[in-house]
Amino acid sequence: MSQKVYPVQKQVKAAALIDREKYLKWYEESVENPDKFWGKHGKRIDWFKPYTKVKNTSFKGKVAIKWFEDGLTNVSYNCIDRHLKTHGERTAIIWEGDNPYIDKRITYNQLYDQVCRLANVLKKHGVKKGDRVTIYMPMIPEAAYAMLACARIGAVHSVVFGGFSPEALAGRIVDCQSTFVITCDEGVRGGKPVPLKENTDKAIHIAARQYVTVNKVLVVRRTGGKTAWAPGRDLWYHQEIASVKGHCEPVKMKAEDPLFILYTSGSTGKPKGVLHTTGGYLVYAAMTHEYVFDYHDGDIYWCTADVGWVTGHSYIVYGPLANCATSLMFEGVPNFPDQGRFWEVIDKHKVNIFYTAPTAIRSLMGAGDEFVTRSSRSSLRLLGTVGEPINPEAWEWYYNVVGDKRCPVIDTWWQTETGGHMITPLPGATDLKPGSATLPFFGIKPQLVDNEGNVLEGPADGNLCITDSWPGQMRSVYGDHERFVQTYFSTYKGKYFTGDGCRRDEDGYYWITGRVDDVLNVSGHRLGTAEVESALVSHNLVSEAAVVGYPHSIKGQGIYCYVTLMAGHEGTDTLRQELIKHVRSEIGPIAAPDKIQFAPGLPKTRSGKIMRRILRKIAEDDFGALGDTSTLADPAVVDDLIENRQNKI
Ligand code: WT7
Repeated sequence: MSQKVYPVQKQVKAAALIDREKYLKWYEESVENPDKFWGKHGKRIDWFKPYTKVKNTSFKGKVAIKWFEDGLTNVSYNCIDRHLKTHGERTAIIWEGDNPYIDKRITYNQLYDQVCRLANVLKKHGVKKGDRVTIYMPMIPEAAYAMLACARIGAVHSVVFGGFSPEALAGRIVDCQSTFVITCDEGVRGGKPVPLKENTDKAIHIAARQYVTVNKVLVVRRTGGKTAWAPGRDLWYHQEIASVKGHCEPVKMKAEDPLFILYTSGSTGKPKGVLHTTGGYLVYAAMTHEYVFDYHDGDIYWCTADVGWVTGHSYIVYGPLANCATSLMFEGVPNFPDQGRFWEVIDKHKVNIFYTAPTAIRSLMGAGDEFVTRSSRSSLRLLGTVGEPINPEAWEWYYNVVGDKRCPVIDTWWQTETGGHMITPLPGATDLKPGSATLPFFGIKPQLVDNEGNVLEGPADGNLCITDSWPGQMRSVYGDHERFVQTYFSTYKGKYFTGDGCRRDEDGYYWITGRVDDVLNVSGHRLGTAEVESALVSHNLVSEAAVVGYPHSIKGQGIYCYVTLMAGHEGTDTLRQELIKHVRSEIGPIAAPDKIQFAPGLPKTRSGKIMRRILRKIAEDDFGALGDTSTLADPAVVDDLIENRQNKI
C-alpha cells in the first residue's frame, strides 16, 4: 500500500463540476434519501412519460430491482435525437483506424441517419422488440450503430468480443437463442486480419447442432477479404442500408425493459448473461461519465476499451453519447505501428480525457519513456484506469510521465454487473492515493464483511459487498434468475457480493485487493478457472485439469494450468503447445495458458475436492507456506508438484 497522497490540484478543482463539499453533500443525500436524489438525477435523460416511482428494490428473497419503473424512454433517442436540434453537426464519434493514416468523424446527424437505417434493416428482416441480436464486430463505428439500432427498436443486443472463438460465440448465441447476427468480413488489428465472418459461420454451425438456427447474418464490408456466402441467410450491410429510409421512430420502452445482455465469467460453469435494462442503466452510465471524468461540453474523450466489454458499452457508447460527447473509437492496438501509438493519437485528435487499463500502462511503461515524451499530450486533462488493481509504480508513471504531473489519475473500480463506476475518485473532490480506487460514487454503499459475514467497521480487510441498489445494477442473469440470486445474494444474505477482496484504510479509502473467488483477471479480462479447465479436459489426452492465477508483471495475473494426462501419455513440450492452441481455439487468445505443468496427480481432500489454495501457492513459487496438508488424500502428490513447478524463481 502506497502511503503517498496527491491532493486535488488547484487548477483541477477550480474547473471541476464537483468539489469536496458538493461530493460530501450529494453523497449523504444519495444514501440517506435515494428516492429524492435519484428522482432528481433521473431527469438527466429525456422521458416520453415521466416516472412517478423512483426506487423499488429488494436484495432479499427473490431479489427484485426496479428503478423509474413507470417511466417510458428510449436509449437511442437519448443518445442521438435529443442532441440534434442544438448539436447535430457536433462529432459524435472520432474513428481512428488500425492504420494510422485512416480516420473519420461521424456527426450526430450522421449517427442518426446510420442508426435509423440499420434499425429499419433489422425491422425489415423481422427483428422485433425483445428479440436478441448478437453483435460480433471489430472496433468500427458500425458496432456502435448496431447497438443503438437495437436499442431504437427494443431489440436486446448481445455483443460478443471479436477475440472470442467460434465455440465461445456459439455458446453465447445458443444461451440467449439469438437468430440474428451482425458481423464483419474481417477485422484488422495491428495490421493483421481477424476472420470474423469465418468464425461466425463456424459458430452458426455449432449452434445449429444445439438446435438454434441463425436466420440472418448482416455483414459489414471492412477489408473486402474473401468470405464464404450463404445466399438467403447472409446480407451485405452496405446494400441493405442503401434501400431503407433514414428515419425510424424510437420505440417507447419501459424503464425496466432489457437493453442488453453481456456475457461474463464467473467462478463456476458457463459465462453468465448479465442483463441490463433501459432507464436506470442509462442514467447511471451518463451520470458517472460526466462526474467521474469531469466531462465538459466540447471535450474530446477517449476510452481505449473494446465494445465487446462493459467498459465499451458504458464508456464508449452509452454514457458519452447520452452526454452529447465526442467519443473516440480506436480500431487498433497500443503497440502498432509502435508503442507510441496512444500518445500520437492523443496529439492527433487533441484528446482531453483518456481512459485505459493498467495492463496497457504497464506494457507501455516497459517500452521506455521516449515513446511518450516524443509527443506533446498538452491537450490531456485527466487520466482514467479500469479493469484491475493498478500497482503504485504504474500509477506514478502514468501520472508523472504520461500526465506530466498535471492530470489526476482516476482509478475506477466497477464490474460488468454494476453497469458503471462504483468506487472512484472525483477529480475535483478526491485526494488521490496511488493504488486506491478511493471512495464510493453517489448512491453506493460499500461494506466489508469477514468470511462468516460479520460486518467490519473502520480500517479493515474483508470481502466487498454493496448493501443497497443503484440504478446501473444488473437486474438478472438472462434466462436464469435463480442463478442471479445464488451468485450474488446468497453468500452474504441480503447483500450484493462483488467477489472482490478489499481493504479500507483509516481515511475510509478502499483498496481492491483482487478476486476472492475462482475468477482470474488476465490483462483486465475476466476468466473463470472452470472455463479454462473445461477447455483443457475437452482435449482427448487430458484426464484432469486445475487452473489458478499467479502474479504476472504485465498481465496482472497469468494462467497456470496443472494437467493430468490419460494413462500412458507423456507430457512433452509439443503437447504443451498443442494444449495452448486448443484452449485458444475453445475460448479465444485471451485464455491462452501461460504455464502448463503436467502432474501425475492433483492435491485433493478425501472427499475429492481439489485444494486450490495449495496449487496457487506452488504457482506463486511460495510453497514454504503451504499450510495444513494433512487433510489431503495423498500428501505425496504435493512433493511432485513442487519439484516440477514451472515458476521456479
Ligand atoms: C472485476 C470486474 C469494470 C470494467 C472492466 C472489468 C476488477 C475492475 C478495477 C479497479 C481493482 C478492478 C475487479 C472486478 N477490477 N476495475 N479499478 N481496481 N480491480 O469488468 O470484467 O466485469 O471485471 O475487475 O476484480 O470484480 P469485469
